[in-house]
Amino acid sequence: MNAPTPQGIGLTPPSFVKNPKLIAWVAEMVALCKPAAVHWCDGSEAEYQQLCQGLVAAGTFKQLNPAKRPNSFLACSDPSDVARVEDRTYICSEKKENAGPTNNWMAPAEMRQTLQPLFDGCMAGRTLYVVPFSMGPLGSPIAHIGIELSDSAYVAVNMKIMTRMGKAVYEVLGTDGEFVPCVHTVGAPLTAGDKDVSWPCNTTKYIVHYPETREIWSYGSGYGGNALLGKKCFALRIASNMGRAAADGASGNPGWLAEHMLILGVTNPEGKKYHVAAAFPSACGKTNFAMLIPPAGMPGWKVTTIGDDIAWIKPSADGRLRAINPEAGYFGVAPGTNTLTNPNCMASLNRDVIFTNVALTDDGDVWWEGMGEAPAHCIDWQGKDWTPAIAKETGAKAAHPNARFTVAATNNPALDSAWDDPAGVVIDAFIFGGRRSTTVPLVTEARNWTEGVYMAATMGSETTAAAAGQQGVVRRDPFAMLPFMGYNMSDYFQHWLQLGKKLQASGAKLPAIYCVNWFRKGEDGKFVWPGYGENMRVLKWMIDRIEGSAQGHDNVFGISPSYEELNWNGMTFTPEQFHTVTHIDKAAWQEELGLHEALFQQLAHHLPAELPATRTAIAQRLGA
Ligand code: OXD
Ligand code: MN
Repeated sequence: MNAPTPQGIGLTPPSFVKNPKLIAWVAEMVALCKPAAVHWCDGSEAEYQQLCQGLVAAGTFKQLNPAKRPNSFLACSDPSDVARVEDRTYICSEKKENAGPTNNWMAPAEMRQTLQPLFDGCMAGRTLYVVPFSMGPLGSPIAHIGIELSDSAYVAVNMKIMTRMGKAVYEVLGTDGEFVPCVHTVGAPLTAGDKDVSWPCNTTKYIVHYPETREIWSYGSGYGGNALLGKKCFALRIASNMGRAAADGASGNPGWLAEHMLILGVTNPEGKKYHVAAAFPSACGKTNFAMLIPPAGMPGWKVTTIGDDIAWIKPSADGRLRAINPEAGYFGVAPGTNTLTNPNCMASLNRDVIFTNVALTDDGDVWWEGMGEAPAHCIDWQGKDWTPAIAKETGAKAAHPNARFTVAATNNPALDSAWDDPAGVVIDAFIFGGRRSTTVPLVTEARNWTEGVYMAATMGSETTAAAAGQQGVVRRDPFAMLPFMGYNMSDYFQHWLQLGKKLQASGAKLPAIYCVNWFRKGEDGKFVWPGYGENMRVLKWMIDRIEGSAQGHDNVFGISPSYEELNWNGMTFTPEQFHTVTHIDKAAWQEELGLHEALFQQLAHHLPAELPATRTAIAQRLGA
């Protein structure tokens, strides 16, 4: 997986690195990991090309046909290294209760002792890449810097796309700037004469966060969120700690929020623009929603993308919540993406892409299930021949279900003009949505901030690839943050409640909160709501509510739209179908509330009293 190290690059830092703390830390990590060489990334295009060609030479990358997919590559991982490893992910706070019941925990001293022998010599025979990155626009007061040390050139090139990576970061860092140290190894040292494999990794894996000292240590995996440490590890798990730590009762600073949310802009036909941040668990179509194209029946409406996965949200001086996307690229799930479900995404993928674990077609292009007509033959993600006949006989997938693309945000034709604005955008509404085939209605508005926090806290979703265990089982995923929460979940609920209270007390207008479910099924087991671009109709209802032009009606669970309040231009959807996706089934809700209660029992330590009280109020309305 190593690209050759260019001559002249080694332990001595280049002249543009001027931060003594960083230089000392790199020296310390080199002494520990014992790489054969050190490469200080400058983030240049020349460097990207050189590393990609090195990856081609190492067999990690295949260059795709430049006539079909210019400047694009395919990597296929080891079959054991295909997704985030939640059961190997740890929050190592000093006290167990600060990691909370939803996180794996080990005492920091014990974890350091466990990791020490694993990291000792872990990079032997490999190059250590020093990857400087900024989460958020360079130099923005909302942004933060990280330095990832990795023995994977695949990580270095992905980080170049996913973050603002390179020399300019050192300028912002200066001689005394702060950075989050992130150490990553595939855990596959090479001894002299060893032949490398195309995707080195280790069966032992640890994804470790020390929230008090704000460090990330990742061992044994080269895949996605396990290895690209700016994303889930920094921008969510460590940043959620930073956001809470910034809250200060004495000065009244409400702190800030690091959320698993896409951010989009919606412009109405009159040109008025709104911004929405939406949290969905993995594999609920977040990228599709972030790049939504309004249906033909709603001319003049426009949706633009600010982010597809993570939002950092901070109150500004006027008390309004402003959000930035800390990332600079998309690491999206490929299977299921096509020109009908997400034309903007497909257009983004025309060039300059790193694909991982999709299939290679005979003409040097890529294919995945759900992309369109299957090729007569291709090479699947495991390097085997694949034909539709083989698939029929064996069920073999051409692409792994969690196959990904890595692409720069600037490739997105629907990119919002403010996506890189250091000041962020004002959030008008939060949306929380899971994948639920029953029970949860298409859309519900929270009556107030507390009810919204309740909706988010009790969110559930049917499980997908990254979660270990059975697929299709509902797991509670509060705020879609279950795998990404960097501290005790109930303290996080409290942080949300406090932040709302403080802003409200200062007279600020809080964003409205909505709960959505695009995935309700009918008795025939099929989805009833068409989703994708038609979700614009639901977005419009939210905006009508914000503007006061839709009345909605009180329900047991928040405020619901009537059939007449949605725009049905150009779409046939009967009142009966609307009833199927919106009605509240009493028995199902009684069961649902039982599950909320079970969640609250699990999260009892520091659970804010407002949440069980909201549950009681819903139960009373349900019983009335
Ligand atoms: C992701 C995820 O990759 O949420 O974004 O799993
Ligand atoms: Mn995500």
